Amino acid sequence: MYWKRLPTSEIRNTIKKAFDRNVRFGKSKVMGLPISSMDPRIFQKEGVQQSPFLYAMLQNANHGGCPTQGISGDFFEGTEQLEMEAIQICAEQLMAGKPGMQDGYIAAGGTECNMQAAWIFRNLFKRKYKAESHQIAIVHSEDTHYSVWKIANLLGIQQLVIDVHKTSRQINLQDLRTKIKKAKAEKIEYFIVVANMGTTMFGTVDNIDNLTTVLDEEEVFYKVHVDGAFGGFTYPFTHPKNSLNFSNSKVTSISLDAHKMLQAPYGTGVFLIRKGYLNYLATTEPHFMAHKIHTLSGSRSGANAISVWMILRAFGSKGLQAKVKRVMDLKKKMCADLDKKKIEYIHDPYMNIVAIHNRHMVREIQHHYNLVPDNHDHPTWWKVVLMDHVNESMVQSFLDH
Ligand SMILES: Cc1ncc(COP(=O)(O)O)c(C=O)c1O
Repeated sequence: MYWKRLPTSEIRNTIKKAFDRNVRFGKSKVMGLPISSMDPRIFQKEGVQQSPFLYAMLQNANHGGCPTQGISGDFFEGTEQLEMEAIQICAEQLMAGKPGMQDGYIAAGGTECNMQAAWIFRNLFKRKYKAESHQIAIVHSEDTHYSVWKIANLLGIQQLVIDVHKTSRQINLQDLRTKIKKAKAEKIEYFIVVANMGTTMFGTVDNIDNLTTVLDEEEVFYKVHVDGAFGGFTYPFTHPKNSLNFSNSKVTSISLDAHKMLQAPYGTGVFLIRKGYLNYLATTEPHFMAHKIHTLSGSRSGANAISVWMILRAFGSKGLQAKVKRVMDLKKKMCADLDKKKIEYIHDPYMNIVAIHNRHMVREIQHHYNLVPDNHDHPTWWKVVLMDHVNESMVQSFLDH
């Protein structure tokens, strides 16, 4: 076995060249995806001494397990305390949970958080109610993120994909009812319901009250998981009185992604769940630290975990509210201009995505602004995502194109 060792200067140059081939925030016009740079106000580019995040990376803390299950005596107790504080802010302030009544941890991203929730509910149904895998289904709209397809496959459970209305992108309740009835007839009795707090393509927020009304009328047993990976750090600011949070007794768990609107480094999701549920992941096998068994991932980056704390504390809720307001104001202006130009688009009024109809699109615009379609073979809509690095002049030049 052999591979060549490279001198430090060559490694540095190779990495630089690799980054030169990527899209670059600030240079390329990236308007079609919910991606952004790490927030430059928090993660300064100057040397390690000035950058607590780079310092944290180099210290390489390993946060295993779930901090809300107890951290005292751990090797990384100091930074785990910051992770716990970040979880508490997200669960209790952003997501209206009662103090001390939620568990959570900083996961690798929305996919892991969604997986963790579904895994817990599947085990709950199996362990407490003796359900078989074929009696359990995950229910979600057709616009839901593809992580749920992976989850159904990995957990070996059934999947009910519900149609949406083609312009509002809201769940078709008649289709939901029909598919639930059919599932019941096929002896599916336990449902993991994913409610979107912002779909990936359209930013649509599912109406949880409509969803749960149908499920209650059909008298089925279900648990609701809110996928706030895209909208979790936006929607609570634009619509503070919403019911997709722990103030709603029907919501059991929530996913958030800190590497979208919050601009944390990639690999930073936030998993939140009401207390009492993590026990369904407990194994009977021997383990060396009791609380290490409650997370899908084993070793986790302490630096990523505390980056959430850094951002939340550096902005405070008022600062984040102002950050979200700026992109929403930009979106409002963009919609007003699209109206004037009689361009067809759809959007959720509380979210930062505008999807523009394909007939107004030309290849040059799609390419220049890095836009993404709903379907790569037969596009109907192209989304523009208003993130923090998108400024007025980018939007103006897009509209003038
Ligand atoms: C709504 C939604 N859920 C889940 C995910 C998956 O998140 P991640 O890529 O962080 O795993 C995304 C990512 O775009 C998303 O938009």
